[in-house]
Amino acid sequence: MKNGGKNILITGGAGFIGSHVVRLFVNKYPEYHIYNLDKLTYAGNLANLKDIENSPNYTFLKGDICDYEAVKEIFRKYDIGYVIHLAAESHVDRSIKDPFIFARTNVIGTLTLLQAAREWWNCSLALRKKSQEENDGCFSRDENGNIGHLFYHISTDEVYGALKPGDGYFTEDTKYDPHSPYSASKASSDHFVRAFGDTYGMPVIVTNCSNNYGPYQFPEKLIPLFINNIRYNKPLPVYGKGENIRDWLYVVDHARAIDVIFHKGEPGDTYNIGGFNEWKNIDLVRLLIKVTDKALGRPEGASAGLITYVTDRAGHDLRYAIDSSKLKRSLGWEPSLQFEEGLEKTVRWYLEHQEWMDHVTSGAYLSYYKEMYGGE
Ligand code: NAD
Ligand code: TYD
Repeated sequence: MKNGGKNILITGGAGFIGSHVVRLFVNKYPEYHIYNLDKLTYAGNLANLKDIENSPNYTFLKGDICDYEAVKEIFRKYDIGYVIHLAAESHVDRSIKDPFIFARTNVIGTLTLLQAAREWWNCSLALRKKSQEENDGCFSRDENGNIGHLFYHISTDEVYGALKPGDGYFTEDTKYDPHSPYSASKASSDHFVRAFGDTYGMPVIVTNCSNNYGPYQFPEKLIPLFINNIRYNKPLPVYGKGENIRDWLYVVDHARAIDVIFHKGEPGDTYNIGGFNEWKNIDLVRLLIKVTDKALGRPEGASAGLITYVTDRAGHDLRYAIDSSKLKRSLGWEPSLQFEEGLEKTVRWYLEHQEWMDHVTSGAYLSYYKEMYGGE
């Protein structure tokens, strides 16, 4: 479907961050058509997008980013002008148990998308001199006659490795030093994206963001897992001594940053995204207990006894901390929420959406998809 070059392919839009990005773009930009390509793995959940699923400028496409023929056909059929790529295997603990799927999805999947975009956009460029009538319909122009393309790759601060307390921050110039199979696969995909920029002149942007939290996060990650466990009085498994440090950003602020960078970022550039908001895990868990107990009407600290120190994660990176000052300086983005406010909002959301959580933890959402879309 032609849309003056304004068709955007967002991959992984049924996941945690992707669903916030899809929602923001669908609601804010009626002139774009958003195609959400998602395989619906265990982490993909269309319930995350219930509120916008019937929007006229939104289409869901079930598919695998590793399927070259299918991806090529999507570029052709929907005349894709831009890509915002979020689809990935995203959980470090899973990558330790099964690194292969991380290489497949994160590395081969990203390369597959890059190749398909290159093929489609090269085709457009080759025909650029011909008029719209002369070409065989393989590209479209915007109202000013420009063909605008961008491959925007969403990555993580984990590619930079680990800092010690007092070591400063990761900047855009920090050398890559990934440790987990997850971060190694993301680092590799980042390199492929930049290689396509350098080698083929493809307009690419890479952003590296810190830990996200907020609504619709799969409850294998620390914050939603612990909120749910507190609710059900289940143990809170803190890895090691709880001394590892993460830098937390509210997911809607990440989506806002993606919006700004997508529209105003410099092709070929990299931006770090973070909230200058470092928390030692154990301090974060104590705060989470305080906020959740309060929201549940329990006496302060009632759930503190649920903290259970367990064997540390293998290769557990000690500290992540992002310097996002380039993004603030060059494009004016900064987080809109203070952490305590964001955490309270998040706790309230999970407690008010227990049905969403129960659906996910019971696995009911998976059989629902199987019925609707077939496959795994
Ligand atoms: P998520 O695990 O919640 O969602 C991933 C989505 O990708 C799911 O909907 C899943 O179905 C889909 N997917 C997986 N394999 C696919 C395939 N082969 N084909 C098509 N779709 C597939 O992940 P998230 O936390 O939302 O992370 C999104 C992106 O942001 C990832 O690239 C991740 O590396 C990056 N990131 C995440 C964080 C974080 O804190 N969660 C921080 C920085 C960067
Ligand atoms: P996680 O949410 O898995 O994100 P990431 O590994 O990408 O940073 O974990 C956040 C931190 O919390 C990390 O240091 C590992 C720790 N953690 C626990 O202590 N217990 C848990 O059950 C989980 C899931 C994580």
